Amino acid sequence: MRTIEDYITLAKAAVAALTLPTSPEGLYEPIAYGLSNGGKLLRPALLLASCEAVGGDAEKALSQAAAIEMYHNFTLFHDDVMDRADLRRGKPTVCAKWDDNTAILSGDTLLTLAVEKVVENVEPQKAVELLRIFNRAAIEVYEGQQYDMMFENRDNVGIDDYVNMIRLKTSVLLGAACKIGAVMGNADSSRSQALYDFAMNLGVAFQLQDDMLDVYGDPKVFGKAIGGDILNNKKTFLLINAINLAEGDTKAELNSWLNASHPFPGEKIAAITAIYDRLGVDRLCREAIADYDSRARQSLQGSGLSDEAIAFFEAFAESLMGRKR
Ligand code: IPE
Ligand code: IPE
Ligand code: MG
Ligand code: MG
Ligand code: MG
Repeated sequence: MRTIEDYITLAKAAVAALTLPTSPEGLYEPIAYGLSNGGKLLRPALLLASCEAVGGDAEKALSQAAAIEMYHNFTLFHDDVMDRADLRRGKPTVCAKWDDNTAILSGDTLLTLAVEKVVENVEPQKAVELLRIFNRAAIEVYEGQQYDMMFENRDNVGIDDYVNMIRLKTSVLLGAACKIGAVMGNADSSRSQALYDFAMNLGVAFQLQDDMLDVYGDPKVFGKAIGGDILNNKKTFLLINAINLAEGDTKAELNSWLNASHPFPGEKIAAITAIYDRLGVDRLCREAIADYDSRARQSLQGSGLSDEAIAFFEAFAESLMGRKR
């Protein structure tokens, strides 16, 4: 296998090599903007690494790598409309730089181009298999995003509901990346399943970290505005635990911020962050991240993956621990 950096470099080249239409400009310019904005390229890197972990050649899965990154960017275009987010990767989001309609339609186009790309130059039988994996993951992402929004207006969301929601909105795409890579490398079902399970657990740790960074991150490094989840009453692991643990005055204060109709954003973010600190929910979140990281590593055992492949994916997980962006 190659190094993590090599897979990211390959993924970057696969995305840069895409030839997109240019007209109408209002449709395609935002797509080019989104795809060249400096994402971490984790999903295509995972796809290419999975392909080689099972004995395939990453060079033969470059279209699929580009496709998964295109799909990911489509979800971000729409997610930023839904979350009313203005900043991503340190730059204005598509909905902020253009408008919501642009984010919707350029996003739709990006999704369709991704479907086309995932089966590019693939024989029909394999194409059916790839589309089945791709479409299942896509539907699950929408289900996760729907829960994410519904939960904003519910005050009885449990940790199990939250984990189920982030498995859908985030993990399944990492899982699909691994499965698609495995298909491109002609993996047997045991190794393909192990990679999928690894990615599903890693995805939970990844989203837990994202939720932490949304509160405690350095905006210059994280590239997104801090406190967006707090302003939207997102039922993150932090907020659910705070709701469960708060008592007396703290509980009353938390409830009043959650029900405030037009709070000053900075004040609400500062007050809820202070409540999190008081209750120590950030420590609980770090423990949960470590737990899912260890589950991810466990998923790799006993599946027939080589020691080299296992070491690679352990290093991949390690590289995400304590991430700042
Ligand atoms: C952002 O994903 C969406 C989440 C699932 C948290 P990434 O953090 O992988 O985004 P980029 O592509 O690197 O910007
Ligand atoms: C990520 O959820 C899930 C998807 C984009 C599908 P977030 O809403 O937390 O992602 P960011 O923080 O905006 O990247
Ligand atoms: Mg968002
Ligand atoms: Mg969101
Ligand atoms: Mg987030």
